[in-house]
Amino acid sequence: MSAATGAVTDALRELHAEFAGVDDGEVADYIPQLALADPGAFGLALISMDGHRYSTGDAEVPFTVQSVSKPFVYALALSVLGLDEVSRWVNAEPSGEAFNAISLERGTGRPDNAMVNAGAIVTTALIPDTPAAPRFGRILDCLSRFAGRRLDVDEEVYASEALTGDRNRALAYLIRSTGPLPVDPVAAVETYFRQCSVRVTALDLAAMAATLAHGGVNPLTGDRVVPEPVAAQVLAVMATCGMYDSSGDWLLRVGLPAKSGVSGGLIAAGPARFGMGTYSPLLDAGGSSVRGHLAIGRLSERLGLHLMHNPALAGSTVTLVTTADDLPSAPAAERDRARHEQVAVVAAQGALDFTAAERVLYAMDEAGPEGTGAVVLDLLRVTDIDTVARAMLRSGLARLTADGRRTAVADPDGRLREPGDGAAAPRCFATREEAVARCVADAAG
Ligand code: DON
Repeated sequence: MSAATGAVTDALRELHAEFAGVDDGEVADYIPQLALADPGAFGLALISMDGHRYSTGDAEVPFTVQSVSKPFVYALALSVLGLDEVSRWVNAEPSGEAFNAISLERGTGRPDNAMVNAGAIVTTALIPDTPAAPRFGRILDCLSRFAGRRLDVDEEVYASEALTGDRNRALAYLIRSTGPLPVDPVAAVETYFRQCSVRVTALDLAAMAATLAHGGVNPLTGDRVVPEPVAAQVLAVMATCGMYDSSGDWLLRVGLPAKSGVSGGLIAAGPARFGMGTYSPLLDAGGSSVRGHLAIGRLSERLGLHLMHNPALAGSTVTLVTTADDLPSAPAAERDRARHEQVAVVAAQGALDFTAAERVLYAMDEAGPEGTGAVVLDLLRVTDIDTVARAMLRSGLARLTADGRRTAVADPDGRLREPGDGAAAPRCFATREEAVARCVADAAG
């Protein structure tokens, strides 16, 4: 076993050993078929942003996805219709109520959020239904792409829920009686039963959560399942509403976007870090897996995964602030060294985002004798620049130039360039020496 496999799998195994003996809670029985689940089943799985898979216990035992389908169908609705349109029909406020409560806004009948049944039924109703692409086909395709493999339906669970699902049908009738929803929630509730009966494993759930954590791209398949803003929107609603009436306490103590289901599945996502899926059918009074809750809570505590933790700052964005006469490439001749002395050099490394770009610009402002003279920005060791950082660096360089400071950038990969760049674009060179030479020549001229 490799070092990473060992370390992460060991962490999962420790959680499994710690909580496998907990037998609090009850297996759901309001859908008769769910009552047949093995109360002892317990599986844990985690998938990293590089698509590395870690699991232990019953991580490949199939069970039905139930309410864990809700965030993914919400993602599909957001992708098709956009946040503003979806929000006309489903709100995004924590209900503080049980999953099957009548959580409808006074006056409009709009469900509180897409994680409770009322909101999930409306969300399902919003998915287009055409002869070429029927609603359930779209949903199954979408869930499958999140999981990174073709999923199917447990027909027995579906039949069992369809036989006993009158509370959800009643909710659908109530929604129809109160609101002007342009599609039929009563028909959609049958599709909702099917979506709840899609079969998954804890590893599938980890892949689905990891896809949301990875900005909508499945880290196993590379498939862009939903746009990045949609993944962020879904994670936000999971963070505030995913655990029903314990969502606030969950966010406080565990600090991760999550979603539970009555068959015992639970997902949690660490944005840009990992997706986790657990399976254990013993449920607490709110309908969430007892062992899953304990295991994810402990993992978050042990590994410092709480969203609100102050993250370790990447302390070394700016690797060098100097003047060009101090570089090994500076010429020996007295007069040329004096010219090089007038050129400040700031080198950056790694991936540049808003925080990193602010550091680089601050260093450029301060660099040089009393913040004057030419400045060379060296991006040779920069691995990525996001659009925000690129815009900040470009406008920062333009501002320095407007202040009378000559600038040049060592940017061999053209990371700072933009399509349609004209004369006002940053002056970019393949090497630091060329950028310095240009600024020295400017000074001489
Ligand atoms: O609506 C229902 O009753 C189920 N098919 C799904 C509910 C569910 O999973 C709630 N989650 N804890």
